[in-house]
Amino acid sequence: MKKDIKIRKAKEIDIEDIERIHKSCIQKTNAKIYDQKVIGEWIEPINFQNIKKQFESTKWFVLEKDNKIVGFAQIALDDDSIYQINIDTEYQKQGLGVLLYKFLEKEFKKNNTEKINLNSTLNAIDFYKQLGFKEIKPIKLKLKTQEVKMVKMEKLL
Ligand SMILES: CC(C)(COP(=O)(O)OP(=O)(O)OC[C@H]1O[C@@H](n2cnc3c(N)ncnc32)[C@H](O)[C@@H]1OP(=O)(O)O)[C@@H](O)C(=O)NCCC(=O)NCCS
Repeated sequence: MKKDIKIRKAKEIDIEDIERIHKSCIQKTNAKIYDQKVIGEWIEPINFQNIKKQFESTKWFVLEKDNKIVGFAQIALDDDSIYQINIDTEYQKQGLGVLLYKFLEKEFKKNNTEKINLNSTLNAIDFYKQLGFKEIKPIKLKLKTQEVKMVKMEKLL
């Protein structure tokens, strides 16, 4: 890995950065594909307390470039699942998402995971395909009144 890039376990002090990156990914990257009504409801529950709560049940990692947090990921080893990978909109398409994924894959391998599952946003399907994931079936993530169309994908390790 390049010297200026570091991936490490997330700490409570990182939550503000995680919240900022997640919201801006939805507003800028996901919004290119999804309806504004969906985007609004998707963003609503993203806040400090909700993220902190999820720190208890899932593993979170941050990617730092030049000591600045520019990406994060959430996984559940007991569920063999990647819940999300988000790269700061200003830093996308530079290979950082692939780096973060490769780090996660090593975590799953250490855990003897045989198959990684995830639900991909429509904009990220090609990203996961190039990393070896196969599309299984379309699914819908239910929000208050809207739903987010996604695709269930998996990769055998
Ligand atoms: C999906 C996501 C994580 C990908 O991260 P990323 O850092 O942009 O991904 P990478 O740069 O590693 O790879 C993406 C593409 O950039 C290309 N790329 C990598 N380095 C590049 C470079 N230096 N110059 C140009 N292109 C490059 C890759 O080949 C890849 O090609 P693709 O468009 O065919 O997939 C990111 O776009 C994101 O955060 N999206 C919003 C949140 C989201 O939907 N996440 C998925 C939730 S499950």
